[in-house]
Amino acid sequence: MTRFKLPQTPGPIGVFDSGYGGLTILKSIREELPQYDYMYLGDNARSPYGPRSFEVVYDFTLQAVNRLFSLGCHLVILACNTASAKALRSIQQKDLPYIDADRRVLGVIRPTVEIIGDITQNFHVGVLATSGTIKSESYNIELQKFYPGITVTGQPCPMWVPLIENNEFQSEGADFFVKKYIDQLLEKDAEIDTIILGCTHYPLLIDKIRKYCPNHIKLIPQGDYVASSLAKYLKNHPEMEQCCTKGGKCQFLTSESSEKFTENATIFLNKEIHAEKIAWDF
Ligand code: DGL
Repeated sequence: MTRFKLPQTPGPIGVFDSGYGGLTILKSIREELPQYDYMYLGDNARSPYGPRSFEVVYDFTLQAVNRLFSLGCHLVILACNTASAKALRSIQQKDLPYIDADRRVLGVIRPTVEIIGDITQNFHVGVLATSGTIKSESYNIELQKFYPGITVTGQPCPMWVPLIENNEFQSEGADFFVKKYIDQLLEKDAEIDTIILGCTHYPLLIDKIRKYCPNHIKLIPQGDYVASSLAKYLKNHPEMEQCCTKGGKCQFLTSESSEKFTENATIFLNKEIHAEKIAWDF
């Protein structure tokens, strides 16, 4: 049960990630749906989520969702695979009915899985993701539901998020870890023709990933698919669409220092933004 009376007036669409990775999703969403207002929340102080347990990722994600609801969002996108894998279902089924049955939380795994059948030719699919997402088996489970018999091979890439969060993703040192995890994935299944970048941070490494992948392999960053799935969702749910304000603005919130977020997010988004630090417990 929420401790606060939630605002009932329309508000921005909430976008949550453990850190900067969700900015890749936000960018695509704003390109597809520029008319709405957005509120981005990065839990940079507690990132990365990838190595954390189910309980902790669930607790942190639920706190973030409650926070975004209390700030006026009716719809929150978990722009984080780790949170989508470990917390989305529990929040949707267990928490939302108590918090407010009319609010919604959506993730990034389903929209990605839905389009894979149109892309793979041989149904050998690789998933590069955090250790938590791979361990959860979420991609395998969802892909098997849509395409029974598909061969799904996961590869955890525990060094990639720290490289990105520390702004080392363009350095020469990053190449070692990019090559290492791609080689490990392809050693497990040499027939893979499609690789899901199953962590919202990874598009920042896409040039290096491409460099170490054979040319015929298709790389699937999620942003555009999440954006078009959201557009479809809002079209099919006018009651939710009416709860989303339209002003084309975006507010950035972080649990870390606002200066640090502002500086790094500006690099990731290629444009200047300003972030505010939020106190985490409320
Ligand atoms: N960007 C996130 C994801 O999509 C999580 C990264 C992390 O915090 O480990 O999984």
